[in-house]
Amino acid sequence: MKPITVMTIFGTRPEAIKMAPLALELSRRPGIRALCCVTAQHREMLDSVLDIFKLKPDYDLNIMQPRQTLSTITSKCLLGMDSVLDEAKPDLVLVHGDTSTTFSGALSAFYHQIPVGHVEAGLRTYDKWSPFPEEMNRKMVGAIADLHFCPTVTNRENLARENIRDGVFLTGNTVIDALQTTVKPEYTFQEDILNRLDYQNRKVILVTCHRRENYGQPMANIMTALRRIADAFPDTELVYPVHLSPVVQEAAHKYLDNHPRIHLIAPLAVDEMHNLMARCYLVMTDSGGLQEEAPALGKPVLVLRKETERPEAVQAGTVKLAGVEEETIFSMASELLCDQEAYAAMAHAVNPYGDGHACRRIADAIQWRFGLRKDPPEEFLGQ
Ligand code: UD1
Ligand code: UDP
Repeated sequence: MKPITVMTIFGTRPEAIKMAPLALELSRRPGIRALCCVTAQHREMLDSVLDIFKLKPDYDLNIMQPRQTLSTITSKCLLGMDSVLDEAKPDLVLVHGDTSTTFSGALSAFYHQIPVGHVEAGLRTYDKWSPFPEEMNRKMVGAIADLHFCPTVTNRENLARENIRDGVFLTGNTVIDALQTTVKPEYTFQEDILNRLDYQNRKVILVTCHRRENYGQPMANIMTALRRIADAFPDTELVYPVHLSPVVQEAAHKYLDNHPRIHLIAPLAVDEMHNLMARCYLVMTDSGGLQEEAPALGKPVLVLRKETERPEAVQAGTVKLAGVEEETIFSMASELLCDQEAYAAMAHAVNPYGDGHACRRIADAIQWRFGLRKDPPEEFLGQ
């Protein structure tokens, strides 16, 4: 039988972390010719992930520019993808999640009449403006896609509400597959400050913040709350690997520079990040990926957003929405720093997002759909 060509398309750091293990799994499967195309919507932050997973893209659109707009990303991706898809003629394109690359990759495949598989399908907040533009991106990709790989039962139910029931597979999230390859008890950090932190006697708070809907006043509120936390609690150390977006860099340095216990550092390589998360006391973040990883490592998370498309860990009690107001963020963090019972109630490991076998299930599902395998994939039914 002629092999099928499956092309993964991704462009940002989180997509790369969640797609690299899948791209590698596909390349090991008989009957599949696996190709990888990166848009490089991110550059340094993408390359760092490609290095760690030793993944060499077959195509690189290299589109990133400073302070890029949503329209620039989308149009550059669409134009770049045209020749790639014409040349490679994949039988299936796989996109991930909800970024501008995701939407453009799916739309481009649709224009070329190529089937689309959506990895991390079915996440919803039902608020068009939050997260922006991700909520609309994933809805539009859901409308285009032929195969939908849902991490959780909730995600599958969300798709069913939109009458998407065909080609839906319950797989778990590939980020848990990635996490299982990176966290090591004896890990030594490349970033020296992380080796010097006293994780036993200090409360290390891991911070990230980058979302577009937080630009402006919400980000100012968040940063002010973070500085107040460091001032009020002398036993804390805040570690904040700052996203390379100039908007984020400016806000972080404006509010958080020149504090002896606030460490603004460069974005971390993913293995560094995962091992720091495994050792920290608390995570404060507006990231999607961190909301999935930290619960698996038993770390409480305060989400610096008004909503989340990842309610599973909130229900499990390890994640709380802290919003974007200074006072609420400060008081919720204070509770976790002062009240050991409140902390212990959140600090237990749960794995609602996966069991480390999502890539295997997705590859099985693809082989099954293309007649390369007799049995359908098993489902991820939670742990
Ligand atoms: C994008 C995604 C967001 C995801 C985030 C992950 C969209 C619309 N947004 O947002 O869903 O959560 O990635 O981090 O797709 N930059 C660099 N080097 C890099 C990466 C970024 O310099 O390696 C700078 C550039 O100036 C770039 C800016 O960051 O213009 C913003 O990058 P962009 O991809 O547009 O937005 P993100 O906020 O990263
Ligand atoms: N991450 C990383 N280094 C960092 C910050 C984040 O490797 O300095 C990882 C993190 O562990 C997670 C992913 O990047 O796997 C999340 O990316 P991000 O927060 O940029 O995007 P989101 O998940 O919000 O789309």
